[in-house]
Amino acid sequence: MSRYLFDNADDQTRERFSVLESRYDPWSRKALENTGVGPGWRCLEVGGGGGSLGDWLGERVGPDGEVLVTDLDPRWAVQRQLPANVRLLTHDITRDPMPGDGDFDLVHARLVLLHLPERTRVLERLTGALRPGGWLVLEEFDCGWTPVLATPDGEAGALFERVHGALLEALGQAGAEPLWGRQVVGEMMRAGLEGVTATTYAETWAGGGQGIKLHRANIEQAARRAGEAEIRIGAMRIGDTWLGDGELRRFLELLDDPGFVVNSYPMVSARGRRVAGAGVGA
Ligand SMILES: C[S@@+](CC[C@H](N)C(=O)[O-])C[C@H]1O[C@@H](n2cnc3c(N)ncnc32)[C@H](O)[C@@H]1O
Repeated sequence: MSRYLFDNADDQTRERFSVLESRYDPWSRKALENTGVGPGWRCLEVGGGGGSLGDWLGERVGPDGEVLVTDLDPRWAVQRQLPANVRLLTHDITRDPMPGDGDFDLVHARLVLLHLPERTRVLERLTGALRPGGWLVLEEFDCGWTPVLATPDGEAGALFERVHGALLEALGQAGAEPLWGRQVVGEMMRAGLEGVTATTYAETWAGGGQGIKLHRANIEQAARRAGEAEIRIGAMRIGDTWLGDGELRRFLELLDDPGFVVNSYPMVSARGRRVAGAGVGA
């Protein structure tokens, strides 16, 4: 079973998907446009989450194309009015039989492999789902480059690093690789993809703004999980770090303070093509 930390069943998912959509969809659409995706293409959108990019791909490929959006738990995408050429599938990319016959023109996954301990094997599966010449676009965060850029006081930077560091530990313990963004180009080359290139997008996230709400959604969800698992008076353990109530409270206050500015997670958008004979199938 997947150990995905940010389970879609939790309340914080709505906020997470709303931030991802508003802050990163424009850049993801550019990355996808760079493949030439257009009328008639068959696309696979893996771990489609809220479903916005699946809908957009549906518009791009038109009535002669088709888009299959998969997710371990598609409860959010299912609420959308899906275009006629977009289909949703409940599917675990780590172990369910792969859809299609290795004939997709484009396979896209954003912020999915980062969470999966089996990411290298999943990368092979995605490569095998492509037709020869088909495009794989993987978009992943590099969670290791989020410098604090402005603070309202001398303590805020260190507090952010400590709480955010605990979150990354918890992610690692759930099988995620927070630095996957900086590994993905090399891994795609190792998987036999051709012409692998990437662009990376980052911006400032100020307290009270839209982007920084991702930190709130993530820490609140991790804290809720930690509360269920291990808590003692006035503190809870996230990753290997015990955080006091005061630290969590101050962290959340900072996220609302316009004087606090942090770099967004850089999103590495990597793309490459399957060469004839490459990939290992499902
Ligand atoms: C961080 S969210 C990203 C959602 C969407 N791709 C985006 O960028 O807005 C990760 C998504 O991957 C899905 N997911 C996690 N493990 C999965 C698996 N083993 N197979 C398919 N989807 C999975 C989750 O349910 C969730 O919707």
